[in-house]
Amino acid sequence: MKQMQRTPFADLDGQPNEMTAMLLAALDAMGRHTEIRRVRRTALEALRVQPGDRLLDAGSGAGDVARWLAAEVGPDGEVIALDNSALTIAAAVRRHDGSTVRYMTGDVSAMTLPDDSVDGVWCERVLQHVPDPDVAIAELIRVTRRGGRICLIDTDWSSLAFDGVPGRLADAVSADMHSRLHPGQGDIGRTLRRRLVEAGLDDVTATPVTCFFGDPASAAVVLPMVNPMVPAEAWLSPSGVREEWFTHVDEAGTRGVFLAVLTIWVVTGVTV
Ligand SMILES: C[S@@+](CC[C@H](N)C(=O)[O-])C[C@H]1O[C@@H](n2cnc3c(N)ncnc32)[C@H](O)[C@@H]1O
Repeated sequence: MKQMQRTPFADLDGQPNEMTAMLLAALDAMGRHTEIRRVRRTALEALRVQPGDRLLDAGSGAGDVARWLAAEVGPDGEVIALDNSALTIAAAVRRHDGSTVRYMTGDVSAMTLPDDSVDGVWCERVLQHVPDPDVAIAELIRVTRRGGRICLIDTDWSSLAFDGVPGRLADAVSADMHSRLHPGQGDIGRTLRRRLVEAGLDDVTATPVTCFFGDPASAAVVLPMVNPMVPAEAWLSPSGVREEWFTHVDEAGTRGVFLAVLTIWVVTGVTV
């Protein structure tokens, strides 16, 4: 199997234009998915936002969550939407709705924000794409004032399971997914609690949210290996696996027996 050094989300600006557009559209679709909305509601509750808070959305994509959080902090608060992709930040600025969001390009692992400059952090499905998540976590802690809350949301790709399709194909496509991620980061979701404890945060909470996909169309929004729009060239598996996989996925969908589950973790901690 070929090895890919970085996931496309690690370097959105380095992708061909059509790929960047496809990935941004994929983020939009994910944001509308009922299961991702459930994850986000869990995270919002865990973050315990207060009116007037200054929040950081680290790895903010097109800024939809930042604008949603801006409504929570109200007119006296502020949300900084930071992403390392200038194209993504430009897309976010084009969508700006007048809320108290400030957009900036930056690397979550080396931010220009001053120490103790925010009350809370939201970092959703970003750490699986950075080379060293603990460096990024240390940065998130650095910019958060004492007593502030950090909320990390990330996927546990090893938890991905299917039913209604042959197990050997499910294993092959899951291995394909893993080979795109930095070694060990496929399971980042479950490691977040340990990482925050080891970083010295207080009052660490961890909530696994198991997302259920009962048909291929629903799964395709969140799971790239079920999305037929992901081009064959982006697949790392030996040729033939993709075609056989989709034949079975479609058939299971038609019979009403397709099932996929994936756990996304919501983990918070308070800075000391
Ligand atoms: C899977 S997307 C998630 C976006 C958004 N948080 C959401 O949940 O919709 C990952 C985002 O992290 C950004 N990203 C990846 N590596 C980053 C880094 N080192 N610093 C800042 N942003 C990064 C990508 O550009 C992309 O917008």
